[in-house]
Amino acid sequence: MGGNYSNVPRCVRLTIEHRMCVAGVDLPPEFRLAVPADAERLTRYHHAAWLFGLHHLFPPGALTNSDPLEKLDRWHSWLADGSGYTTVVAEQQGIAVGHTTVAGDELVHLFIDPSWSGLGLGRRLLGVGEAMLAGAGHETARLNTLEGNDRAISLYTRNGWQMTKMLTPGIYFGHERNEHTLTKRLSDRSASC
Ligand SMILES: CC(C)(COP(=O)(O)OP(=O)(O)OC[C@H]1O[C@@H](n2cnc3c(N)ncnc32)[C@H](O)[C@@H]1OP(=O)(O)O)[C@@H](O)C(=O)NCCC(=O)NCCS
Repeated sequence: MGGNYSNVPRCVRLTIEHRMCVAGVDLPPEFRLAVPADAERLTRYHHAAWLFGLHHLFPPGALTNSDPLEKLDRWHSWLADGSGYTTVVAEQQGIAVGHTTVAGDELVHLFIDPSWSGLGLGRRLLGVGEAMLAGAGHETARLNTLEGNDRAISLYTRNGWQMTKMLTPGIYFGHERNEHTLTKRLSDRSASC
């Protein structure tokens, strides 16, 4: 018999495993390296994550009118051997539901399928990305995120990342927007999640 969880306070702090149990999923995510066959799945939920998390930064329709597979070629190149990009996906019951990508000393991507947001996956994948960067010998890592992406900025700053003064303009969906650069000293274990 399914429970009615609509009255459970949102502030109740539960582990990802408990929350997934509430959501009807009894397995924690598994992490694995992404492979070329993941390209289309990653492209599709990457686009959906933009719509979910970043639509408020653009005029109405700017993202919904864009092609969900526009970034497929880039994913094929990132997932190719020797690309310099390493992507780890979180998988639930055989389906990729989030990923992090690193290249050099940069955490290039952190994206969660919107159906799986708010379950702690972003925080865990951030830890995976940081571990990859530290494992590659980087003492300090950097990442960029759009000005106004408060959800992501909150995630990063609560996990030891520091906002720098660097603000870089770029074109996104035909609109000029700025990106913040954040950095984190990876050797400072006390700040790790
Ligand atoms: C940002 C993103 C990666 C977070 O992933 P997630 O799995 O939903 O996040 P988690 O459940 O792990 O929550 C981690 C933190 O995010 C922040 N967060 C989550 N939901 C939030 C909300 N509704 N409002 C503000 N902050 C929120 C909190 O800091 C939270 O930490 P807490 O659990 O200690 O409170 C995900 O929402 C996403 O893919 N967004 C769109 C793409 C994007 O912006 N990527 C980052 C580009 S640099």
